[in-house]
Amino acid sequence: MQPGGIAKGLVKAVLPRSLRRKIQRALQPTVAEGWERYAKAFPRQSGRFLGDEWTEPAEMGVDAAPEEVVSYLDRRVFAPFLGTCEVLLEIGSGGGRFTEILLPKCERLIAAEAAPTMLKHLRERFADSPKLEYLVVEGSSLAPLADDSVDAVFSYGVFVHLHHWDIFNYLREVARVLKPGGPAIIEHANTLSELGWATFLQDVPRCAGHHKAAGAFTPMTPELMRGFCERAGLEVVDCLTDVVRRDAITLLRA
Ligand SMILES: C[S@@+](CC[C@H](N)C(=O)[O-])C[C@H]1O[C@@H](n2cnc3c(N)ncnc32)[C@H](O)[C@@H]1O
Repeated sequence: MQPGGIAKGLVKAVLPRSLRRKIQRALQPTVAEGWERYAKAFPRQSGRFLGDEWTEPAEMGVDAAPEEVVSYLDRRVFAPFLGTCEVLLEIGSGGGRFTEILLPKCERLIAAEAAPTMLKHLRERFADSPKLEYLVVEGSSLAPLADDSVDAVFSYGVFVHLHHWDIFNYLREVARVLKPGGPAIIEHANTLSELGWATFLQDVPRCAGHHKAAGAFTPMTPELMRGFCERAGLEVVDCLTDVVRRDAITLLRA
């Protein structure tokens, strides 16, 4: 038996199951801690912004060159649906891959992030922008924001990773903070698309028998998302599955 195996066996023999579970849970990083580690480990002076590494057109199923992906999505979907407004809320800004194209669309941009170091990256990248406001959030609540206080909401690359319960809670929060009629764009997984299914199969070995692994995609379909959105009090305007063919982009109104 390996030394690690002996230690494991000893722990199992000595500690009751409930206590072992509690310890395991305490040692597991939370979602925010996981992203915090990612942001801290990202090399600052690499000449790349955090998030550039996620712009892989073939993986995403986008018909654009890597450096064109963000502007292509903006032209095709984001700009026409969002228009311009006073207060825009971005949930999970990361290193600002989409913040860059959101800033010109508003007077104030609230970047809501679970990982404080992501906000540091954002501050460095947009040091000159007085429009940006930084908000650390925990999980799926937008508690510091008042009812009907934002004109539009945007989130990309975040709901693909959230648990269903957090997705639903966030949608309820979006319905609360968004002014009546205001638009929201949420990108999420589309597990039954061809590329979505390939992603799901890749995630099976690291998730089977465990809680969802940090970077794994949460199984989701346009139908389930529609059900969540409508029950959260949002109107589903459209769900686009042909722009980022691995995922889906749901267009909503409060
Ligand atoms: C894959 S990154 C995407 C970042 C950025 N939107 C992009 O597309 O480049 C996911 C981001 O969401 C943040 N995040 C994860 N869970 C969150 C939550 N519950 N609320 C707010 N932000 C969250 C992470 O800290 C991370 O910055």
